[in-house]
Formats: sequence, structure tokens, C-alpha cells
Amino acid sequence: MFKAQYRKDDNMTTHLGSKRLPQALIVGVKKGGTRAVLEFIRVHPEVRAVGTEPHFFDRHYERGLEWYRSLMPRTLSSQITMEKTPSYFVTKEAPRRIFNMSRDTKLIVVVRNPVTRAISDYTQTLSKKPDIPTFEGLSFQNRSLGLVDTSWNAIRIGMYVVHLQNWLQYFPLSQIHFVSGEKLITDPAGEMGKVQDFLGIKRVITDKHFYFNKTKGFPCLKKTESSTLPRCLGKSKGRTHVQIDPEVIEQLRDFYRPYNIKFYETVGQDFRWE
Ligand code: A3P
Repeated sequence: MFKAQYRKDDNMTTHLGSKRLPQALIVGVKKGGTRAVLEFIRVHPEVRAVGTEPHFFDRHYERGLEWYRSLMPRTLSSQITMEKTPSYFVTKEAPRRIFNMSRDTKLIVVVRNPVTRAISDYTQTLSKKPDIPTFEGLSFQNRSLGLVDTSWNAIRIGMYVVHLQNWLQYFPLSQIHFVSGEKLITDPAGEMGKVQDFLGIKRVITDKHFYFNKTKGFPCLKKTESSTLPRCLGKSKGRTHVQIDPEVIEQLRDFYRPYNIKFYETVGQDFRWE
């Protein structure tokens, strides 16, 4: 009877393939919809992905590329290896480090209205640390002067064009694909179609893969990479947001407007965050 042979050495090629460094990365942004893109793309037979966030290019870089490679799933040479770590997008050293791994790395960034993103980020933190100050309190250095606190991560992450400039020092725009976090919810198949084109793989993931789950309030997969059962993302994805003072929302919209416009101009895409 056929018996699978597993080898200890990660470098070895077996009939299951070998562990390769990723050719494509979802580098951001936190709370943009990165888990959804990873879970949707890994349904594709030509894609294999790491489930957890490796944080190699920000937290664990000193462990070296061999350590990183050992985390990867085995793939056939025809398959693309992927991982997602949303903090890479705002890590100063990440573009250079990824470039040094391979200048051909394809980069995916899921972006979302920065005000909604900030509220989503805050909602997540609050669920873990209920004692933190209010969103309104953390957002400003001086609220009456409308001075936004750009050192607060929840605000800083949404200044997309600022971070993007670091990436453009190393990668051409053609190597970076931006997914609209909003369209990912209203038209997942359309957004995933563009992701597949960008990765240079056949459009296998289509409308047929999704259904709208009314209870969840989000699109879900009819089947996954490992199961034929339908599956929605977990409870931490698609949370009800904390109510924020509408005046504060307006102030933050004003704050982000110039950054958004510059971002649209730089990437040549209008995300319509108004
Ligand atoms: P909210 O929880 O604020 O709604 P990330 O995976 O990058 O942390 O992003 C989380 C966000 O993904 C969620 O933020 C949610 O809006 C969004 N999202 C996009 N498509 C989704 C889907 N099909 N199911 C659940 N959440 C989805």
C-alpha cells in the first residue's frame, strides 16, 4: 500500500512539494479586510498560504529567512506561497527587507475608509482592554483646535499615502495591488477577480464561491480550502463598532481628506471615502 513519506528536512522536495519563500504578501492594512482576502484567495488551487501572521519582516527578522521559510506550507512549483501580516504596511524597514528577499515580490494592500478603519481598530483594542480612554479622547492632541494626534497608531495607520511613500522607494506601483475593503464586502467576487489577475492566476474564485450570510451580515464562502462546508470569518471580523460622536467623525474626515486625495492620485484609483 502507498505510504506517504514525510521528511524532516524542510529543504527536501517530496511528492507534497517543498517549502518556498512567499512570492506574494498581503502587507496591510490592519482592519482593512486582510483576513477575508487571505481566506478567499487560499481557496484557489494555485495558492497556498500560512494561516497565522508570521510577523517576520517586523518582529522576527533576526530569525532569518530559513526560519521564515520553515513556516511556509509545502507547494508545487506551479503554486504561489502567500502570507499576510498587516503591520508590514506601517513598518519602516519592511519594504527594504522584502525587497532584499526578492525584488519580484507581489504586494497586496487592502485599504478601507481610514475613519472607519480607526474606529474598527479602536473597537478591537477596547474588546481586549476595556479600561482605555475614549476614542474621542485618544484622537486629539487638542480637540477644540482640531489638532489630531497622529502619534496614535489607530490614526497613523490610516495615513496611507505617507506609508506608501516608503514602499515606492523599493517597489514600482505595478507590483502593488490595492483592494477596496468596501467593495470586498459588497462585491467579493469582483475584488477577488482583480486579485487573481494581479497574481497572474486563472479566475477560479467567482460569484459561485460566495453567499451573503444574513445573520453575519457579510459575504461568506460556500466552501473552503480544507472543507466542503460553508464558512464565515470568525466573530472578531465584522464587529459592531463603538458609537462615536458625529462631530469627531467629521473632524477626522477633514483630517484625512488631503491624505486620501494624495493617495488616490498616487495609486491612480479613487476609493470614494467621503
Ligand atoms: P470590522 O470588524 O470592523 O467590521 P482584518 O481582517 O484586516 O482585521 O479586517 C477586519 C475587517 O474585515 C472587518 O472589520 C470587516 O469589516 C472586514 N471584512 C471584509 N470582508 C469580510 C467578510 N466577508 N466577513 C467578515 N468581515 C469582513
